[in-house]
Amino acid sequence: MGDPVSQHEISGDLDAESATTGASSVWDLDPALGRVVVSVGQIAERVSELGATITADYADRPPLLVGVLKGAFVFLADLARAIRLPLELDFMAVSSYGTATKTSGVVRIVKDLDIDLTGRHVLVVEDILDSGLTLSYLRRSLLARGPASLAVCSLLVKRSLHPRPDLEIAYVGFEIDPEFVVGYGLDVAERYRNLPDLRVYLAGEPE
Ligand code: IMP
Ligand code: MG
Repeated sequence: MGDPVSQHEISGDLDAESATTGASSVWDLDPALGRVVVSVGQIAERVSELGATITADYADRPPLLVGVLKGAFVFLADLARAIRLPLELDFMAVSSYGTATKTSGVVRIVKDLDIDLTGRHVLVVEDILDSGLTLSYLRRSLLARGPASLAVCSLLVKRSLHPRPDLEIAYVGFEIDPEFVVGYGLDVAERYRNLPDLRVYLAGEPE
């Protein structure tokens, strides 16, 4: 059986290496995945910039980060640690009806917040804005709860999204072409959330 401790250390090192380079053969060999849209290095650099900006903007009013599950979980984990402020965190889960790669705009709150938003400086952390319909619904729901302020930080915004000043998207990680992407928390039918970088999803709708 060997020594379980050293075995664990060896596989841990390999995992850490592929997480850093994003070059893990299991992903490179997957025919459903296309080119890398945002690399591991680009994500790390941008997340640290966003963290610094948010730290400066919220220095006198500690934010309550609201992560939108499930897609934002990886981004939120990195962003929260890049913000050098005493912050609080809560989660919401929404599900939008539609097909696997298209939102219908009909959104349902699957898990609501535990924390009362009254008088809080709320920063919604989203994975991606495509049509903006999900965020538009979320904003209305959150604004009705009386926060002191409400702003949005989205890792990705598709260029197909028309200017939406009403959505108050204060922080954007990357603007990308209107292609379907997976990785870094984003899925197709619950797969690829653990892909370390962001890649184009090439295949059609999964079965
Ligand atoms: P919207 O309501 O059209 O803005 O779509 C927002 C939601 O659809 C996101 O929070 C994602 O859950 C999902 N979504 C939209 N585009 C993509 C994509 O390219 N990859 C993965 N999920 C996406
Ligand atoms: Mg989302």
